Amino acid sequence: MQLIDGKATSNAIKEEIAEEVRKLTAQGGKKPHLAAILVGEDGASRTYVNHKVKSCEQVGFTSSLYKFDADISEEELLKTIDELNKNADVDGFIVQLPLPKHINETKVTEAIDPDKDVDGFHPTNLGKMMLGLPTFLPATPYGIIQLLDRYGIETSGKKCVIIGRSHIVGTPMSLLMSRNSKVGNCTVTLTHSRTKDLKEECLQADILIVALGRAEFVTADMVKEGAVVVDVGITRIEDPSKKSGFSLKGDVKFHEVAEKASWITPVPGGVGPMTVVSLLMNTLESAKRKTV
Ligand code: GUN
Repeated sequence: MQLIDGKATSNAIKEEIAEEVRKLTAQGGKKPHLAAILVGEDGASRTYVNHKVKSCEQVGFTSSLYKFDADISEEELLKTIDELNKNADVDGFIVQLPLPKHINETKVTEAIDPDKDVDGFHPTNLGKMMLGLPTFLPATPYGIIQLLDRYGIETSGKKCVIIGRSHIVGTPMSLLMSRNSKVGNCTVTLTHSRTKDLKEECLQADILIVALGRAEFVTADMVKEGAVVVDVGITRIEDPSKKSGFSLKGDVKFHEVAEKASWITPVPGGVGPMTVVSLLMNTLESAKRKTV
């Protein structure tokens, strides 16, 4: 088994981004600017947004964080989105999901200017992705594509099985893995909660991408010898022995699956750091679009 090291890869990409920022500013350009909106006190969301802000600092971006209480009205949130759409200094922004129940996530996503939608969640950007047009790819699928690319993992003609059909990961991932591209050209099976005999489907996979959000769901008996396994899950499990009070588990039972896999991503340190770096790449791209 060989480890796909998302932490090391994300650090290498951050170096590349920082170098580009240095070039941009040396030519008199402004620093790329990413803004994030965080609503409520969800611990995981807070951690993710903090990572995003910290990563901006590391690569020389400007960042701004808009924090709101969970009882903010939808109208007020839409007003903030409108302001960020109009703010010429902001190259891209995200609204961290999930949002409180009283706020319509679709309405919020559709309110974001597609040219600033660095999460790639706007229907316009998802449509462009489907057509293979230049766009902002959703961060997690983009991060996985980067990992497969940088590790030189052959995908063409392979059978790729994806577990989970979310709008953020599984569904866009299925499109990207099937398209005619350097990383792609797979025959894709998108599985979900109604799939009959999931184990049988998984055993066919040369590349298995797991994104259902259930700790240690995939066990060794579900994995073909020599498969490439990408674990997107990250679940917090209470763990009094840890300073934080919890430990992080992926969707894959790492130790037993690692013995069968040819390549595998760990949790933490696999897909997670790549997601943040994808957002930075999209923001840099947005900033560069304005200068050409
Ligand atoms: N919640 C879980 N993943 C994501 C993501 O990639 N972007 C945003 N905005 N919220 C999320």
